Amino acid sequence: MADVLFVNGRFTTTDEKVIGVEDRGFQFGDAIYEVFKFIGKKPILIDDHYRRLETGLRALEIRSPWDEVYFRTVIAELLDRTTFDDGIVYVQVTRGEAPRAHFYPEGIEPTVVVYSRAFKFPDAAKKELGIRVITTRDMRWRHCDVKSANLLANALAKKKAQRAGVDEALLVEDDLVREGASSSFFAVRGSRVITHPLDEHILPGVVRDRVISLALEARIRVDERPLRETELFDMEEAFITSTTMGVMPVGEIDGRIVANSRRGEITTELQRLFDEVERNDAR
Ligand code: PDD
Repeated sequence: MADVLFVNGRFTTTDEKVIGVEDRGFQFGDAIYEVFKFIGKKPILIDDHYRRLETGLRALEIRSPWDEVYFRTVIAELLDRTTFDDGIVYVQVTRGEAPRAHFYPEGIEPTVVVYSRAFKFPDAAKKELGIRVITTRDMRWRHCDVKSANLLANALAKKKAQRAGVDEALLVEDDLVREGASSSFFAVRGSRVITHPLDEHILPGVVRDRVISLALEARIRVDERPLRETELFDMEEAFITSTTMGVMPVGEIDGRIVANSRRGEITTELQRLFDEVERNDAR
């Protein structure tokens, strides 16, 4: 069945082909996107996602198609029209349509698509078992803090992980672990949580941000510093965070077992605390 789709001010379904050949999102990946989760038709951490979307649009000088009130109205109506209760919403704003040329015209009308999609979130067994990952070279540009739709390097890394029979690829550059191809990365060592600092090398993950706050509230020390690749094999725990995965333990990296491959104590606690945040947000 087709999904509900909002496009440039009207509702339709994903059966309708709506993007023009000369849309810059299609031609150049000249676009910003967001993915958020909804539970019982309630959007989760929507303020954080909206804020990041607007920051990205400003960074690329793409005109924002909405203010916060209109954005919320669109999401509420989209979820109202959606036939299932839990899933994800994909939002993409492109610079718009213009005759193909690298230099873009000023002030063109942005193209907006928003649609909901059913999604199978990890169940309790998967959240305990965790995932396996590989490391691969980070081939992305130097503005990874912007959630641009230009995801070729991420997609290639993810495909490499899939071919290796694992779930995620950790992106490594100059011996430093940046993040996952579609997730933030955390390690635990000496009872301290270590994660890459916010800069141009990583996306400011919504879940990352919340997990750091939860850790600090629980008096768990957090070091925001890049982890060296060699440190990966000398950790007590490792986990990734993302909108679709929440807090997810990592049990194996490049075929080597992390600690004893069990979900660690700190990971378990942060997973529990973050699940609670989501549940409260869905009330
Ligand atoms: N991915 N880093 C990258 C490169 C990502 O693509 C994502 C999210 C994250 C985690 O961000 P957040 O906690 O805000 O989901 C980190 C989304 C889910 C995606 O592309 O589908």
